[in-house]
Amino acid sequence: MDRLDEETVEQFHDSLDRCGSTSKFLGRFYQIFSASSPEVAARFTDTNFKTQIRALKTSFYMAMLASDKDSEASDYLERIAMRHNHQQLDIKPEFYTLWMDSMIVAVSEFDPQFDHHIEQVWRRFMQPAIEFMSSRY
Ligand code: HEM
Repeated sequence: MDRLDEETVEQFHDSLDRCGSTSKFLGRFYQIFSASSPEVAARFTDTNFKTQIRALKTSFYMAMLASDKDSEASDYLERIAMRHNHQQLDIKPEFYTLWMDSMIVAVSEFDPQFDHHIEQVWRRFMQPAIEFMSSRY
């Protein structure tokens, strides 16, 4: 996995802070993401979104640490990747494109300073985790 540079990590967190209430922001993300494809929506029919949003918040933190090859974070990401593989949740690699695009739409609605640069910061920040998870499909 490529390392994330300090500036990207800092700008990511500043943007996340500007998005305000994480539960509202991530709630909106899941709304956009579920609407992006019936196959995505089908996988969230029995989901408790309160728990799901909490888990996603944790994974932002882990996504950052994992790119630093922190072992605790790698174990976590390994477990999450396994959960998403073709035998378990069956999250096809192309779904990650929808995931990322939906996240960008949510950020554009919530971060008042959203622009092309912020979009790249989010994409760069998530890329190592997405590549890792797709590689474990
Ligand atoms: C980098 C992107 C992603 C991250 C960081 C992520 C993170 C997570 C985490 C942390 C969980 C909770 C797992 C647990 O505690 O065992 C989870 C569950 C789940 N994820 Fe993802 N995920 C990502 C992408 C996706 C994509 C693209 C889909 C496609 C539909 C998806 C569908 C699901 C589903 C269906 C669950 C289980 C929900 C439930 O328990 O009802 N995820 N994800």
